[in-house]
Amino acid sequence: MASNSEQKVILLTGASRGIGHATVRKFSEEKWRVITCSRQAFDTKCPWPGGEANHVQVDLSNPNNTLEAIDEVKKRIDGKLHALVNNAGISPKGENGERLDTLGTDLSTWGKVFHVNFFASVILARGLRDELLKAQGAIVNVTSIAGSRVHPFAGAAYATSKAALGALTREMSKDFGPLGVRVNAIAPGEVKTAILSKGTDKIVADIPMKRLGLPEEVADTIFYLCSKEASYVSGAEIEINGGQHV
Ligand SMILES: NC(=O)c1ccc[n+]([C@@H]2O[C@H](COP(=O)([O-])OP(=O)(O)OC[C@H]3O[C@@H](n4cnc5c(N)ncnc54)[C@H](OP(=O)(O)O)[C@@H]3O)[C@@H](O)[C@H]2O)c1
Repeated sequence: MASNSEQKVILLTGASRGIGHATVRKFSEEKWRVITCSRQAFDTKCPWPGGEANHVQVDLSNPNNTLEAIDEVKKRIDGKLHALVNNAGISPKGENGERLDTLGTDLSTWGKVFHVNFFASVILARGLRDELLKAQGAIVNVTSIAGSRVHPFAGAAYATSKAALGALTREMSKDFGPLGVRVNAIAPGEVKTAILSKGTDKIVADIPMKRLGLPEEVADTIFYLCSKEASYVSGAEIEINGGQHV
C-alpha cells in the first residue's frame, strides 16, 4: 500500500448513488483518497474509510456554490489532484414521467440541467487547474449515449447538455494537454441505476449484449482513464453500452 504522502487523490461529483457510488468503491479499493461531492450530506448508511471527512456538500446547479466548493476542496488537499471525475448529472422528466422535448422544456429547467451537467464540469476543471497540473492528472467527463442520438426517454435538455459535454471534452483536451493533464469522456448506455426510466426493458431487448450495464463496469473504465495505462489517451469519448450503438 502507498504511504500517505504518495496517495493519489480524486475529486468525484455525484458520488452518492449509482455510477458515482461504484466509482468511489473502485478508487477506494485501489487505495486512492476519494473526495466526494453531492447535494446531500454524507450517508453514514453506506460508509467507506475516511468518507465523511472527505465529503463536500455542494449544489452544482448553483455556480457560486460550485466556486465555494472549489475553495473547500483546495483546503482539504495538499496542492495535488490526480483525477477529477465530472459524474453528477440530472435528467428531469415531465409531471407524468414523460420525456421533455424541445417544444415543452421550460428555460429554467433547461438552464438547471446545463449548470449541473455541463457548466459545473468546466468551472471545477478551471478552478482546480493548478492542482491538476501539479499532479499531471486526468479529467473524465461522464456524457451519455443520448448525446449522439435521440433517446426515447432522455429529454432534449439532457441530450444537448451531454452533446455539449462531449464537445467540451475535446476543447479541454486541447487546452489542458500542454499542461500535462489528459481529458476524456465516457458515454454510458443503459446502466442499472436510479436514473433509468420505466420501459428501459424494451430498449434492452435491442441491445446486442441483451442486458443492462452495471455501475461497476462503468467505474472500471473511469479508473482505466485515470491510470497510467491510459497515459497517451486524451480527447477520447469511450462508449460503454454493450453494443447499443451498432
Ligand atoms: N445510468 C445510466 O444509464 C446512465 C446512462 C448514461 C449516462 N449516465 C450519466 O452517468 C452519470 C451518473 O448517473 P447515475 O445513473 O449514477 O445517476 P444517479 O443515480 O441519478 O446519481 C446522480 C448523482 O448526481 C448527484 N447530483 C444530482 N444533482 C446534483 C447537484 N445539483 N449538485 C450536486 N450533485 C448532484 C446526485 O447526488 P445528490 O442527490 O446527493 O445531489 C447523485 O450522486 C450522470 O451524469 C448520468 O447522466 C447514466
